[in-house]
Amino acid sequence: MKKISSLWVRSLKRKLLPNHLLGRFVAISFLPLISLEIALGGFFYARHWDALSHRLARDISGEIQSVAEWVDMTNLSDSEIQKNLKRLGTNLALEFSWKPNQFLPDQVKKRASKMVKPLKSELSGIHFPFQLHDSPYAEQTISVQLKRGILQVVVPRKRFFSSTVLVFLGLMIVSTLICFGIAFLFMKNQVRSMVRLAKAAEMFGLGQMDYPFKPEGATEVRQAGASFLQMRSRIQRYLKERTNMLAGVSHDLRTPLTRLKLQLEMLSQNTTTKDMQQDVAEMDQMLNGYLTFARGEGREESSFVEMSPFLNSLIDKFKKTGHDIELHAKTEARIYGRPTDLSRAFGNIINNATRYGTKTQIQLQKKQGMIHVIIDDNGPGIPAKKRIDVFKPFYRLDSARNSQTGGVGLGLTIARDTILSHGGEIRLETSPLKGLRVIISLPESQSKALK
Ligand SMILES: Nc1ncnc2c1ncn2[C@@H]1O[C@H](COP(=O)(O)OP(=O)(O)OP(=O)(O)O)[C@@H](O)[C@H]1O
Ligand SMILES: [Mg+2]
Repeated sequence: MKKISSLWVRSLKRKLLPNHLLGRFVAISFLPLISLEIALGGFFYARHWDALSHRLARDISGEIQSVAEWVDMTNLSDSEIQKNLKRLGTNLALEFSWKPNQFLPDQVKKRASKMVKPLKSELSGIHFPFQLHDSPYAEQTISVQLKRGILQVVVPRKRFFSSTVLVFLGLMIVSTLICFGIAFLFMKNQVRSMVRLAKAAEMFGLGQMDYPFKPEGATEVRQAGASFLQMRSRIQRYLKERTNMLAGVSHDLRTPLTRLKLQLEMLSQNTTTKDMQQDVAEMDQMLNGYLTFARGEGREESSFVEMSPFLNSLIDKFKKTGHDIELHAKTEARIYGRPTDLSRAFGNIINNATRYGTKTQIQLQKKQGMIHVIIDDNGPGIPAKKRIDVFKPFYRLDSARNSQTGGVGLGLTIARDTILSHGGEIRLETSPLKGLRVIISLPESQSKALK
């Protein structure tokens, strides 16, 4: 039960929180700020604005009551009352007018709009019958019934409405927007340094060892960047050492091997020497394979490779030597990588197909950001339990089959090395042509300006 609820909370969090780091940063820093502002706004409204509106309304009703009492008691003529009211009105910022011999209809109770509610409730301080002609958001007119007529008072908006709340709200919104803008720019910079690090790591995975990258941003991100650079150079150094050692050993072995070859030639020829000569020739071939592999590695620059023309030109070479080979490439696909290394890798696989079978079919497909090259042949195939071993250096299946085909057993090793260093993978299956199916998957490149 606990597990289910924690899963539910996690999935809700995943749905509610933005996916991108920048969105998360913004949500984390602004949700508390906005909640605080809403709480402060509510508090301000309840305590300050409401109280202020009531006090303003109370003042108005007191003033109207005093003026109404004076008009009710005075013996002055109507025109003099009118004159005095005008003067009073100017002083009190209210507009009074005297309507002698007029009477209010029966009191009609109206619902006051929210804005004039404080005014309406405070008008109970007027001890004469009165009527409020409520018009929201504008000046209010109050008619007070006196003995001899009606005293009409127009209350301008500024007398009962405090604009502080609007100024306060406006300030709050503007300051939030300014903070938001500054934080957004600042966070974008922080996120950019992480995106660059992710890109450099991705390119490293694709075999591009020298992708330009400089640690930047916050200390932690810079530390991660510096560690990445250290790791990258350590791996580069390790690979270089391994390749150099391989080249060195192969090179050094060649001299005694050549000597051995010459000595064997000088011996009287019999079956033993013939076997020994064959072994020496095989060793020579292996060393040559290693040397070619070691020399070619890590020297080449990456570039965009259009798969369809790339495969076409590759199989043209095989077609020229009379092999039955077909290419089905209905899709346009591009990868980013080292063309010579790739052509050696694909060449090794196609070479195997033509060497161990008589018919080869190649397909090019594109799925979910990956390109897949499927190479089928009608040869004897590779049993499922040997499909891992054949990638080991110098591993060859049964010698009877291989004595006629001649090879050293490095083809698949080199191909897998190249494909993995391009961020791809290579799989062996049984082909519908009854032979071997090799599936090579590589990440598709979308952008032209990758570098
Ligand atoms: N298409 C295939 N059909 C059947 N067996 C295969 C096929 N491809 C490879 N093999 C088997 O896997 C072994 C390893 O292949 P790999 O390409 O590494 O070496 P190789 O072809 O023997 O020599 P080379 O180094 O010249 O390529 C081969 O010796 C062969 O027995
Ligand atoms: Mg091979």
